[in-house]
Amino acid sequence: MSDYVLDLSGIRKTYRGGVEALKGIDLQVPRGCIYGLLGPNGAGKSTMVKILTTLIRRSGGDGTMLGKPIGDRETLQKVGLLPEHAQFPSYLTGRQVIEFSAGLQNVSSGLTRERTDELLAKVGMTDTQSRTIKTYSKGMKQRIGLAQALVNDPQIIFLDEPTDGVDPAGRRDFRALVRALRDEGRTIFINTHILSELEPIVDRVAIMTAGEILGEGKLDELRTEKTGYVISFEGQLSSEAASRFKEGGLEIEAGNVKLSSVNAVDAQPVIDRIRQEGLVVTGVSVKSQSLEDLFIGLVGGDATPPPMPGAPVQPPSIPQA
Ligand SMILES: Nc1ncnc2c1ncn2[C@@H]1O[C@H](COP(=O)(O)OP(=O)(O)OP(=O)(O)O)[C@@H](O)[C@H]1O
Ligand SMILES: [Mg+2]
Repeated sequence: MSDYVLDLSGIRKTYRGGVEALKGIDLQVPRGCIYGLLGPNGAGKSTMVKILTTLIRRSGGDGTMLGKPIGDRETLQKVGLLPEHAQFPSYLTGRQVIEFSAGLQNVSSGLTRERTDELLAKVGMTDTQSRTIKTYSKGMKQRIGLAQALVNDPQIIFLDEPTDGVDPAGRRDFRALVRALRDEGRTIFINTHILSELEPIVDRVAIMTAGEILGEGKLDELRTEKTGYVISFEGQLSSEAASRFKEGGLEIEAGNVKLSSVNAVDAQPVIDRIRQEGLVVTGVSVKSQSLEDLFIGLVGGDATPPPMPGAPVQPPSIPQA
């Protein structure tokens, strides 16, 4: 069987009225990873998850989930879902929400009791399980939402904006829970536009905007794309030195010169030139691009996105002193 829990090719969705929400998505998600689908509002993230969980129909394309065609009913019993803005009946208790979900998923009553106890403990809601949803905070609702998504012991779990409205402590707990789920061998697919939430936990990400995927890969591969030396100094560069650096493609900002090279040899002439200026070099470090930098580079109004991993990198041109 394919090692991909999701293997999609050319998935398209055009809503009634003509909105092209997905414009031919190809995506492979390996088993046992935390996969992040990142994109701004309206990118098509929820549409993607709704298609995969058969809440809506796709307009085109094909694919498999857990080795079976998308929409296979038996496969759906191995899938968990926490929908975006999930609303549970406010008169149910936390425990009843999980039991209700178990009923929908045909989990036997014996197993339901056992799993509900287990899940309540896992999400830290054992003591508050008998309170009704209307008395819960957003964070508590999200915990119950996650628990109900796990009641069928799923192999793949879709979480659509799972930390929306949750406070920092709740987000930290959520990340720990997601890591634990991955360590149990499950695959977790998370939609979000909150990058900082994902950065510490995702194994792979796809960056999506306007129905298209602009970049995909392991976080490390994506990050190293814009790695380079940063040379820090005290004082003011002469305008001549500054323009030489700029001509050489280096970036200068607030006491730092940035090179797009990780080769120490390339940094030497820059350090020499700064010292010739009579300035003191206070630090030399290698900086990598954060996920946020990458995201903004790809999505943030820049018509010419940076090259993706694997694309040839232009060697920097270092001005000689
Ligand atoms: N039922 C619908 N009918 C028509 N257009 C829709 C429908 N649902 C979504 N869209 C449109 O499809 C596009 C993608 O929407 P989608 O909800 O998938 O984006 P998203 O990435 O999940 O955004 P958000 O971060 O705001 O949740 C948007 O332009 C949206 O307006
Ligand atoms: Mg959405």
